[in-house]
Amino acid sequence: MKHFISFADLTHDEVMELLDTAEVLKEKRARGKLTDLLKNRSLAMFFEKSSTRTRVSFEVSMSDLGGQSIFLSSKDLQIGRGETIADTAVVLSRYVHCIAARVNEHSTLLEIAAHSSVPVINALSDVEHPCQILSDLLTIREYKNHFKGLKYVWVGDGNNVCNSAILGCAIVGMQMVVACPPGYEPNAKIIEQARELGGDITIMSDPFEAVKGADVLYTDVWISMGDEHEIDKRLNDLKAYQIDPKLLSFAKSDAIVMHCMPAHRGQEITAEVMDGPQSVVYDQAENRLHAQKALLMKLID
Ligand code: CP
Ligand code: NVA
Repeated sequence: MKHFISFADLTHDEVMELLDTAEVLKEKRARGKLTDLLKNRSLAMFFEKSSTRTRVSFEVSMSDLGGQSIFLSSKDLQIGRGETIADTAVVLSRYVHCIAARVNEHSTLLEIAAHSSVPVINALSDVEHPCQILSDLLTIREYKNHFKGLKYVWVGDGNNVCNSAILGCAIVGMQMVVACPPGYEPNAKIIEQARELGGDITIMSDPFEAVKGADVLYTDVWISMGDEHEIDKRLNDLKAYQIDPKLLSFAKSDAIVMHCMPAHRGQEITAEVMDGPQSVVYDQAENRLHAQKALLMKLID
């Protein structure tokens, strides 16, 4: 059994194998062919935070594969009345074959994993969002056909999605540049870990310098879930990091623009770029479904 808590839980070969499986499943679904590879299997989805894409893509993944999912808002569980995370994890894993958890604190995820007897998937924590990056790699491969030598530039807040992207880029061999204001750098331990994996990572503050020659331009919200207490400060600190047509013009002419969504047009990205010809954001959202199916099959197997 293996958990998927950090993107670094996967090796290069495992990533490629998952992307290949996802591609096959995507093609089968397009032809109306579903499989029952997870028949009689159940996924518990323990969520402490809101979700549109992650929740729906996991639920549809299980139903497409002949299994079932059970959505559990932490508000409705006995946790709200004082039951421990540990007891919850032990009990859930007596019923289901896998647990996907979206948590406020990464330590909650580690606690669930420590007490679960079934695989645990990080469906987003304050530290990482590995499922997002797995599906983003599928999208990048669809548009660029390869990873090695590509320049992936992250602009804005060095947040949870950025941390997983740093590990993902290191594992598949893309150069990663992060442009962020001082104080918004990604997690230092993750940068170190990615460099140990052979990652080529540069952190800088000038977005124009960073974007020069980019193949992939990525951004995410400036106010992640849990950051709502510093909205004004963040809007002010990050305002020079908006992806607009001028910044995009510094990237390669065939660069793709990515955003994990939800997006705030007029903040981290302009509507013109988000809805423009280089944007692949809806493919990213769709690919959550195909990539997570591959992941569930690997873990539940
Ligand atoms: N990108 C993503 O995880 O979206 P949701 O928060 O809607 O799940
Ligand atoms: N960084 C964002 C991602 C949402 C999918 C957040 O944590 O809210």
